[in-house]
Amino acid sequence: MSQPFRVGILTGGGDCPGLNAVIRAVTKSLILLNNAEVYGFRDGFQGLIEQDGEPLEYRDVSGILTRGGTILGASNKANPFDYHRRGGADVSAECLHTYRELGLDAIVAIGGDGTMSIAHRLSELGLNIVGVPKTIDNDIVGTDRTFGFDTAVTIATEAIDRIHTTAQSHHRVMIVETMGRYAGWIALHAGVASGSDVVLIPEFPYEIDDVVDVCARREQVGQRFTIICIAEGAQPDGGERAVKKIVADSPDPVRLGGIGQVLAQQLSGRVASEVRTTVLGHMQRGGTPTPYDRNLSTSFGAHAARLVAEERFGVMVALQGQEFVPFPLEKVADRTRTVPTDDDLIQAGLAVGTSFGVSDLRTELETQMGATG
Ligand code: F6P
Repeated sequence: MSQPFRVGILTGGGDCPGLNAVIRAVTKSLILLNNAEVYGFRDGFQGLIEQDGEPLEYRDVSGILTRGGTILGASNKANPFDYHRRGGADVSAECLHTYRELGLDAIVAIGGDGTMSIAHRLSELGLNIVGVPKTIDNDIVGTDRTFGFDTAVTIATEAIDRIHTTAQSHHRVMIVETMGRYAGWIALHAGVASGSDVVLIPEFPYEIDDVVDVCARREQVGQRFTIICIAEGAQPDGGERAVKKIVADSPDPVRLGGIGQVLAQQLSGRVASEVRTTVLGHMQRGGTPTPYDRNLSTSFGAHAARLVAEERFGVMVALQGQEFVPFPLEKVADRTRTVPTDDDLIQAGLAVGTSFGVSDLRTELETQMGATG
């Protein structure tokens, strides 16, 4: 792109550790390598619709690498195609208006699947957009990792480690509910990392008898406590997901939550020990990113800036294996990356005796081992 050029940047959807690290990386590298001007929109697409924001200078993004949240603010309600502040109207034309009025050459949109879907639709209308995949849920199609996930897993693992010792002291069944929406990545990674006895994720509806069996078997061998890590999107076989709240003016109105309590009720009276539930909630999204997430965010940001300079638009920066590659936004939009049955960590968990609440999974592994061993 011929210099100097102007680039807008926004953070859409819910917040996530590493957002500031990406803002810093995009802004610094565009200024240092391309002598570009950067404009930060306030509160995600709301800033683009309402023309609300301010130029970002190099010094504005200094000292924010380790800071949680986003200096730009975020909104998970500002969908330009269904704008809650104007009664659900399509105000996408105002995004184009702002883009032209500010003399922008491109926008870097940092966000989850909702943000990528909006970015895709806006790019079809002619805006030059590069996406950066954000979410603690790690559920964006096309990338092996999203930034924020490692931090959420670290926080959840530490929490379960702490719960482990109190479970042991009081001989209790302790249930820990993680976030993650319809994907079980956080629960799977934190559950296996913490040595949880049972890990329940949305991808495998759990059999309550299987969970009861695990608790009973542990009692029988003198292990008088059980740790269960359950994703908020998990559901009993033949049952339903637990919905905590409906946020009517949000593009994705369903807020999951409460399955830990449902499971506690299902277990009570069927296991010898007392059952308690802890919900980790937004703690998983707050505070400083881990070193891994700081570096991932910095790489994502630097690659996004390079794609802008190379005029490769309508794509999201994706991490595939060890490589950062452009991935078409249209392939990201309206999809969710869930945990496959043959995921390495599922297989490793099964091999060390972790229950995923599904007897067939264990039988399948035993059959494979019998066949090969
Ligand atoms: O997508 C991130 C996430 O934290 C999910 O894990 C969770 O279901 C949801 O956002 C919670 O949304 P809110 O902050 O609107 O309650």
